Amino acid sequence: MERIAVLTSGGDAPGMNAAIRASVRVALSREAKVWGVSKGYAGLIQGELKPLNSRSVSEIMQRGGTILQTARCEEFKTEDGQRAGVRNLVEHGIEGLVVIGGDGSMHGALAIHRLGFPVVGVPASIDNDLRGTDMSIGVDTALNTILEAIDRVKDTASAHHRAFIVQVMGRHCGYLALMAGMAGGAEVVLIPEVEANPAMVVEELKRAYAKGKPHFIAIVAEGAKYDAAALAQYIEDRKEEAGFETRVTILGHIQRGGSPTAFDRILATRLGAVAVEQLLSGISGKMVGLVGNEIKATDIATVLAEKKKVDKHLYTLAEVLAR
Ligand code: ADP
Ligand code: F6P
Repeated sequence: MERIAVLTSGGDAPGMNAAIRASVRVALSREAKVWGVSKGYAGLIQGELKPLNSRSVSEIMQRGGTILQTARCEEFKTEDGQRAGVRNLVEHGIEGLVVIGGDGSMHGALAIHRLGFPVVGVPASIDNDLRGTDMSIGVDTALNTILEAIDRVKDTASAHHRAFIVQVMGRHCGYLALMAGMAGGAEVVLIPEVEANPAMVVEELKRAYAKGKPHFIAIVAEGAKYDAAALAQYIEDRKEEAGFETRVTILGHIQRGGSPTAFDRILATRLGAVAVEQLLSGISGKMVGLVGNEIKATDIATVLAEKKKVDKHLYTLAEVLAR
């Protein structure tokens, strides 16, 4: 294989640039030529490809976002869209593709593989909802961003003796909320995977008030049955009981931006490098991931067969530690 392409797709994640850089430079070191596809599968369908050299990926490792840009593209969910994308690759003489993205992007990569075009996936999504890897690129940076926000919120919460509901990303997955809650010392964590009980939150508020806690922090995943707004309303309706006055902070896309942590840069570099090595050695339909401390390749079909589960033991531990 002498010509490969790289694209980033779906929600951006800090560290995607480090994965692009490693893919490009490892490919060049193996005498392969590299093209960058702009704007994910949308750019693939439009034929937005440009050659990349070693200088194209200079000075990008420390930057969030993705130099190739990313997109969500409904058309790529259709076979016509997928065939159009593969046609553009073939017309450029490209023989293999590295897809850097999350769960949806891996579905797209699997479709390309099933059309007979070689592809290897690299997991990048702050949600950490992909099986086949302990950590996806961007998760560690997002968690650190959330923790900084929680620490700041705690200062003002304690100063005013208030409860804060902090909403973090995770439409279907509570990983960020659970880990941020544990590392940030939150009193309560609400995630989509565990049945929400707002009455329990009010009980915890009362308990915290009675114990003389200076603040109360609830971390809520955006996809939880009670998001921050709904939970705040529930508490407001019972404010005499709850004790604490409540405020809401929605962190939003701040969690997706920023310079990647050392962990994310190293993870992305290792994954990008192995993805290209796999592709150049003729492997297709795999996603590379961090398993233990090794980079291993898993069939994308296996990765997608089931959603990654949150660790319920850690959820219980977070509850115990909050007391
Ligand atoms: P992420 O990769 O971060 O999970 P999305 O779920 O938005 O982000 O998926 C990114 C893109 O992947 C979608 O916009 C679409 O182009 C493509 N994609 C998602 N699901 C499929 C699918 N079932 N088949 C083919 N392509 C898909
Ligand atoms: O998939 C990553 C993610 O950040 C989710 O946690 C979140 O629900 C979603 O993307 C937000 O997507 P958008 O950028 O389209 O608002």
